[in-house]
Amino acid sequence: MKPMKLERAETSRPAVTGELARPAASADQGSPLGAYPQVRMRRNRKSPWSRRLVAENVLTTSDLIWPIFLVDSGDARSPVAHMPGVDRLNIAEAQRAAEQAAKLGIPAIAPFPYVERSLRDPTGSEAIKATNLMCRAVRAIKSAVPEIGVITDVALDPYTSHGHDGVLDDRGVILNDDTVAILCQQALALAAAGVDCVAPSDMMDGRIGAIRRALDAAGHDEVQILSYAAKYASGFYGPFRDAIGTNATLIGDKRTYQMDPANSDEALREVGLDIAEGADMVMVKPGMPYLDIVRRVKDTFAVPTYAYQVSGEYAMLQAAALNGWLDGERVMMESLLGFKRAGADGILTYFAPEAARVLKAG
Ligand code: PBG
Repeated sequence: MKPMKLERAETSRPAVTGELARPAASADQGSPLGAYPQVRMRRNRKSPWSRRLVAENVLTTSDLIWPIFLVDSGDARSPVAHMPGVDRLNIAEAQRAAEQAAKLGIPAIAPFPYVERSLRDPTGSEAIKATNLMCRAVRAIKSAVPEIGVITDVALDPYTSHGHDGVLDDRGVILNDDTVAILCQQALALAAAGVDCVAPSDMMDGRIGAIRRALDAAGHDEVQILSYAAKYASGFYGPFRDAIGTNATLIGDKRTYQMDPANSDEALREVGLDIAEGADMVMVKPGMPYLDIVRRVKDTFAVPTYAYQVSGEYAMLQAAALNGWLDGERVMMESLLGFKRAGADGILTYFAPEAARVLKAG
């Protein structure tokens, strides 16, 4: 680097900052960053010790949240069609999964229920019952493995006969405030069952504040809220909807409540409102196609920010790996590190136990 030339470049363009302030990076003109051949970026990459030293981000097991699927069944496990390696678990098997997670050092699991078709109705009335599959599973998991964090969705879609996250009027329009009232009762049932954190994934307006007030009024002020704050109407949820049986029930789509994939500023408004209403942590979902949103949210609000590597992301990586088209372990670890680089504090991922094993093995 030539300091004289650098100074001249800076004084001649005082008002311009950032990219434009930099003179063209040719050797004769000089660059504040230096230039080839004095600078050779590859020097820092020449050996493993040096690459480790200059690494800017790191993935650890403490960054992982493991979503699992529950089913009320005599069979311990039943496979999820389009998520190779993922099974629905009965409660006893879910306890074992929680033990496994704790052993691997995974901080939290996030169970999702496959609800019997006969228990689904237009208002999702099963969702608020203390004896439903989720509440029974939460009790069983917390009694078997008290130290594991249990985070549960608050949303009606597994329980409604029409597959929507809310209740509908007779024209099929989502009733926001009526839905929020039911979500509060669902959150209370889960809190009474011993859940550590509720995660409203429904995208109704005002639900975070309402759930916070309901929890506090019932003495559950220690129950955390992880808000699915910026949740997009995405095609990447397909395999999940098979896993919980909502592809079969869903009428229409979720575009009147989940966000338009075209939008980014709107995500900041959603996140800002949820924080103001009392969210302890926020989530962006899906993950890989929305890393720009993760970065903006983290930079803007500096709150605990999570990303959900959703079922379709898992499915596409697994499918390619099983076909021998990609190195499965390598792209799994690379995709998870990408979330960290984008600013995520943690990742909900079906790869959690696999990734934890890889991390443990070093
Ligand atoms: C339901 C919910 C969905 C997911 C998490 N909670 C799907 C949806 O909104 O239809 C998706 C998770 C995944 O695809 O892995 N409220």
